[in-house]
Amino acid sequence: MFKRISAMVLAGLTAMSLAACGDAGSGGSGGSGGSGGSGGGDAITMGFAQVGAESGWRTANTKSVQDAAKSAGVTLKFSDAQQKQENQIKAIRSYIQQRVDVIAFSPVVESGWDTVLKEAKDANIPVILTDRAVDSADTSLYKTFLGSDFVEEGRKAGQWLVEEYQDGSETVNIVELQGTTGSAPANDRKAGFQEIIQADPKFKIIASQTGDFTRAKGKEVMEAFLKAHPDIDVLYAHNDDMGLGAIEAIEGAGKVPGQDIKIITVDAVRDGMQALADGKINFIVECSPLLGPQLMDLAKKVVAGQQVPARVVTEETTFTQEQAKQVLSTRQY
Ligand code: AHR
Repeated sequence: MFKRISAMVLAGLTAMSLAACGDAGSGGSGGSGGSGGSGGGDAITMGFAQVGAESGWRTANTKSVQDAAKSAGVTLKFSDAQQKQENQIKAIRSYIQQRVDVIAFSPVVESGWDTVLKEAKDANIPVILTDRAVDSADTSLYKTFLGSDFVEEGRKAGQWLVEEYQDGSETVNIVELQGTTGSAPANDRKAGFQEIIQADPKFKIIASQTGDFTRAKGKEVMEAFLKAHPDIDVLYAHNDDMGLGAIEAIEGAGKVPGQDIKIITVDAVRDGMQALADGKINFIVECSPLLGPQLMDLAKKVVAGQQVPARVVTEETTFTQEQAKQVLSTRQY
């Protein structure tokens, strides 16, 4: 008898908590009671599926999310997918099973998320994309996407190059170190850069390969580029870490980075900014990893069933060598 009453109470409580998630997930009536709370400070639990720890940017991003969760009173369940989509999918499924209030994740690659996102939607657990986008046609599978405009970042890199070589007519041989194959920043930074430089046929991308956003792979691929192409003028690296690895390769080949080969990177993490100030990198396009506070704010709102913008774009700038010298000491990451 006691067992039966306990089971009934448990079933009732489960139904209540599902209903609370349901309100929030549908973006409808707004939560009252339940773990999602009112968005006015009630504790919520977030499952966060991180890409990995592939770069200085990612380390800063993880810290920002963890610090912001603490400050916002959000209980954070954190997983590191080690740059593997299957690990992220497993983590998301486990968050669904644990019935967290909200799931946030930075997708390793753009494609292949519809099934697991549908599972979250069916369980009435809202999902927030942070940093990277997915290519799902059904945008109702997630509540909002918080992060940079990667195409614009690529354009900024291209614009600097066009200005730098505006007075010359000779061919400019470019090598490109792409980010993780299939990831939004790799696809978009390539596209934005290409869009700008294609207006002038003197710019030629003579080699383009993934360096997986890591320093080690950036070095390895740049070594191969240098062996195959003795006439490289410019390196465009989709992040600082690959650029820093490539600098080691360039120095190893007896060339002077920043002079013999001009270097453009993306991110503006401290090590990258130091290399820029030292004259080894020529230009950096900023990509801010400090998404934590905005993410917590959005999470509270979606759990409370409030409307949020479908897209929140991070504000970013660019840095020349002189600007890097000025801001280096105050850089947060
Ligand atoms: O998604 C953001 C990118 O991922 C950063 O530019 C890169 O450093 C990171 O690994």
